[in-house]
This record gives sequence, structure tokens and C-alpha cells, in this order.
Amino acid sequence: MKVLVTGGAGFIGSNFIRHMLAAHPGYTIVNLDLLTYAGNLENLSDIETLQKYRFVKGDICDKGLLEKLDFDAVIHFAAESHVDRSILDSAPFLQTNVLGTQALLEEARRRGCRMVHVSTDEVYGSLAEGAFHETSPLMPNSPYAASKASSDLIARAYCETYGLDVVITRCSNNYGPYQFPEKLIPLVIANALQGRPVPVYGDGLNVRDWLYVGDHCTAVDAAFHKGGAGEVYNIGGRNEQANIGIVRRLLIAVARKTGAPEESLLGLIAFVKDRPGHDRRYAIDPSKIERELGWRPSTPFESGIDGTVDWYLSHRPWWERIISGAYREYYDLQYGKRAIL
Ligand code: NAD
Ligand code: TYD
Repeated sequence: MKVLVTGGAGFIGSNFIRHMLAAHPGYTIVNLDLLTYAGNLENLSDIETLQKYRFVKGDICDKGLLEKLDFDAVIHFAAESHVDRSILDSAPFLQTNVLGTQALLEEARRRGCRMVHVSTDEVYGSLAEGAFHETSPLMPNSPYAASKASSDLIARAYCETYGLDVVITRCSNNYGPYQFPEKLIPLVIANALQGRPVPVYGDGLNVRDWLYVGDHCTAVDAAFHKGGAGEVYNIGGRNEQANIGIVRRLLIAVARKTGAPEESLLGLIAFVKDRPGHDRRYAIDPSKIERELGWRPSTPFESGIDGTVDWYLSHRPWWERIISGAYREYYDLQYGKRAIL
């Protein structure tokens, strides 16, 4: 099987490609990624020379390019993914997340192949009590969430209208290796290690449901191989945490591991103006994927967070090259023109 993975140079996509190559040695993976600011080929430097892996630099909106690629199934991660950026400018979010998804759906339809559309719990909006179910209404609050909800609905329509074999997954917040340091967890670790202020939006009591990225990868794998056509699967680890609790936990872990005084790192916390439209709480009910596909997360939050702090400590050059911008040179240095179609 030749699987097209979109957005494979990003955080979850790169973890997923590594997972797929290890879990399914017979597969070939084509990684289509535009290398926006969030795409970093250094995430995949250890596998880039494998025969069964190929990188193509390109835009998922480019229908001519999609037609030329050789694949039998699509697993679609590519997106503009950061809520704060969507508040500053929603245009790239609509372009990539909505029109790019439509282009991929159209290409999957032309070939009659399976597509997994990787989405988010943010499409459901904010929750006062209980947990999101697959049937909960879509009430997105940020331009990012609205663009993902739009793409979910187009995916659904392609199944209903054309009989496309599409599966939608909606996962809670991920953390782990290779997450771009604009997102909460890597940002806190990187800022702590540089002695920079750690911004906490509003009162810090917003709640997110956190899942280790490796567990998201096994869930998408299960959805790809065992999910029903037209089905939606919520993915989460029943792990609700208030932001301020996570921030304190991370700072205490960094202090313990580096020998820095705990009080000085906790003193970096800076409560800042809240994010507009900031969702108060997300919580996922993953019973359907557990029951129907037999998926279970395997990384407890405590060890996942501890391992993630260790990873950012031991991969300081990785995130320092992002902060300096040097990571953007990697494609030209390693690939030159050979990966361009
Ligand atoms: P990311 O921002 O780290 O990576 C996105 C990747 O997509 C980058 O490599 C980027 O270069 C690529 N890309 C962007 N626009 C493109 C285009 N037009 N054509 C081709 N490639 C393009 O994102 P992530 O955190 O890895 O998220 C991956 C997917 O998972 C997204 O669809 C996101 O909505 C979803 N998701 C993320 C989370 C999370 O916590 N990060 C949770 C649930 C769902
Ligand atoms: P983020 O990692 O951006 O994920 P999302 O907005 O998709 O949930 O943010 C996670 C939570 O942390 C969210 O409630 C916003 C908050 N946050 C901060 O308090 N400070 C920060 O600097 C960032 C980036 C996020």
C-alpha cells in the first residue's frame, strides 16, 4: 500500500510517519508538505533516506500536483493549526484547511480511495459540563476551529453525496516530541530554559484534555485500518488539566532536571491578556473508538510529560534552530531540487 500523508513535516504528521514505517513495514509513505513556518524536515531526518519514504514539497490545494502523485490512500494532517495565528489572519486557515481538504477529497473521489481526515475536538466549541460525543453539535469559536469544522462537513458531504470512503477523527490537545514551540507545552519548556517569561492567558483556569502524540498516532492508524466509512471517532485520554496546573508542573520538572531554583522558574509565570473567544473547557468522550476499534492510549500523562520535558532538554538545538529560523534552510541543504516534482 502507498499512503499519502499530508502535513508530514509538522508535529503530529512526523510522529505519525515514523509510527507507520515501524508498524507497517510493507507500506510506502509519500509525505506531501508545503513547508510553511510549521513544517520542519529536521523532524524526519532519521528516516529521510529510507526507500519506502518519499518527501514531496507542495501544496494540498494544488490539484494538478495531487493528480500526479502515486498513492492508494490518504491520511490528511496538513493544516494551519495555531488558534492565535487564526485570530490575527484567518485567510490561510480557510485556504488550506477548507479548500485544501476539498482538493484532497476530490482527488480521493477521482481515485476511489480511502481518506482519513484528521480533525480536532475544537470543532465542538466550549463545554460547561460532561464531554464531547461524536454527535455533539459543531459550535466552533475560533477561526481555526471554524475552518476545521467546515472541512469536517465537506468530508461528510463527500461521503453522503459521492459515497467517498472517508473517516473523520477528532482528537484532543496533543503534546510530545517535535511540537512547534508556539504551542503551550513546548513554549513553556523553551521559555523556562531561556529564563524568559511564560505567558498564561487570562486566569489560567481554561481546561484542555491532553493526549500523548504517540497515542494519537495509534488511534489514527486504527481509524485508517478499521474505521467505518463516513464514521467520526473522538480521540482522547480522559485527561483534563487546567493550563496553570500544566505550566506549574512543567516549570517544577524543568527545575528538578536542571537544578535551577524552583521559585525562580515559577516566578517566570506572567498572566497576560486573555485570548479573544478563548474556549473555557474541552473534554472528549473516546468510548466509541475504544469500543468499536479497540483503541486504548498507552502513555499516562505523568510519564508522557516527564519524557517530553526530557526530550526538549536533550533536543535543545532542534528548538533553538526554530527560534533562530535556521530550520528553514534544511530543505535546500538536504534536498536541493531533487524532491520537487
Ligand atoms: P502543525 O502545524 O505542526 O503541522 C502542520 C503541517 O502542515 C506543517 O508541516 C505544514 O508545513 C503543513 N501544511 C500547512 N499548509 C499546507 C498546505 N497548504 N499544503 C501542504 N502542507 C501544508 O500541526 P499539527 O499540530 O501537527 O496538527 C496536524 C493536524 O492535526 C491538523 O490537521 C490539526 O488540525 C490536527 N490536530 C492537532 C491537534 C494538536 O494538538 N496539535 C489536536 C487535534 C487535531
Ligand atoms: P495551545 O497550545 O495554543 O492549543 P489550543 O489553543 O489549540 O488548545 O493552547 C493550549 C491552552 O494554553 C489554551 O487554553 C491557550 C493557553 N495558552 C496560554 O495560556 N499561553 C500561551 O502562551 C499559549 C500558546 C497558550
